[in-house]
Amino acid sequence: MKIIDLTKNNSRTQDRLLPAVDAIKNGNLVVIPTETVYGLAADCFNISAVNKIFLVKNRPYSDPLIVHISNLRQLHQVVKYIPENAKKIIKVFWPGAVSLVLYKKSSVPDIVTAGLKTVCIRMPENEVTRKFIELCGTPLAVPSANIFSRVSATDISHIIKDFDGVKEIKYVIYTGRPKYGIESTVIDCTSYPFRVLRYGAVDIEEIKKKCKVEIIEQKRIFQKKSPGMFKKHYAPIKPTYVSFNITKYIKTVTKEELNNVTIVCSKKTKDKLREILKDGSSVITYGNTLKEIAKNLYLCLRLAEEMDTKKIVVEATKMSGLGKTIMDRLLKASEGKIV
Ligand code: TXA
Ligand code: MG
Repeated sequence: MKIIDLTKNNSRTQDRLLPAVDAIKNGNLVVIPTETVYGLAADCFNISAVNKIFLVKNRPYSDPLIVHISNLRQLHQVVKYIPENAKKIIKVFWPGAVSLVLYKKSSVPDIVTAGLKTVCIRMPENEVTRKFIELCGTPLAVPSANIFSRVSATDISHIIKDFDGVKEIKYVIYTGRPKYGIESTVIDCTSYPFRVLRYGAVDIEEIKKKCKVEIIEQKRIFQKKSPGMFKKHYAPIKPTYVSFNITKYIKTVTKEELNNVTIVCSKKTKDKLREILKDGSSVITYGNTLKEIAKNLYLCLRLAEEMDTKKIVVEATKMSGLGKTIMDRLLKASEGKIV
């Protein structure tokens, strides 16, 4: 696994991407950047290459992949038909962190879509990602670059931790920490009205308002509306809990218990806790605004699982806007366990 580091020197980007392009053309895997989280890419038309994704991630075949494209010509290569309302979303939000589920063409192999008649598509905002797909000359099947059910990767250290030494992955294209840090929003465009399948980096309200399209939201976060929606997901290796009131939680536990907890919370909450907490308590701050929290959440969860403590308690956010996305991830990471 060689690293193509584009964070320091942006010159000759195209030339530096070419060995990774060859790796895709030869049926191997490449870790690619996106504006949401890092992805593990294969040529979406090459069944044995796509199969490698499932093997190295330990991902069940029942969990469909998102096909990433660099232009609209590639969209027509993989989907049968684009409803007018989907065209409106595409016009405003592509390239961007919105993925659309549409009816697939038969050219898309079943392994990509878990045997469904539909395929999920997105055109990433990160320019290096689009350049790479364009150079590959084919749409790419790209799940998040992490071991199945674990925390997604938003830093080079996460990719190395999960995949170092995996021979199927030839390159990591690194462009630094992703702008959003949380996965794309997924919308099912095969039902009428459209439905949200996964809250993501782009707020549903913004999509509804800007495109004047009706999109139904799921009432319960755990409702199983699509394959790949698992109860436990985005989960650290240590037991994880959500707290709606960290100060109250800390007052209810013993000192010994507290020594075995890593707390992940806002800067504001950490400042409040300073009085109560003794030195030595592990507190990681994920920022203050919802945008900061979304961007730092996976980094903080990965840090927390490496700490010398037994469990993780994460402060809940409000449930509106990006907060819906953050709480979706937190409730899955914790399997709904609240303290
Ligand atoms: O931001 C993202 O979308 C990232 C980056 C790498 O682009 N990718 C990502 O992929 O999050 P992944 O594999 O971790 O999540 C894909 C999810 C599936 O678990 C499923 O929920 C949904 O997308 N999905 C894919 N194809 C679908 C389909 N045909 N019907 C319904 N849901 C689908
Ligand atoms: Mg994932």
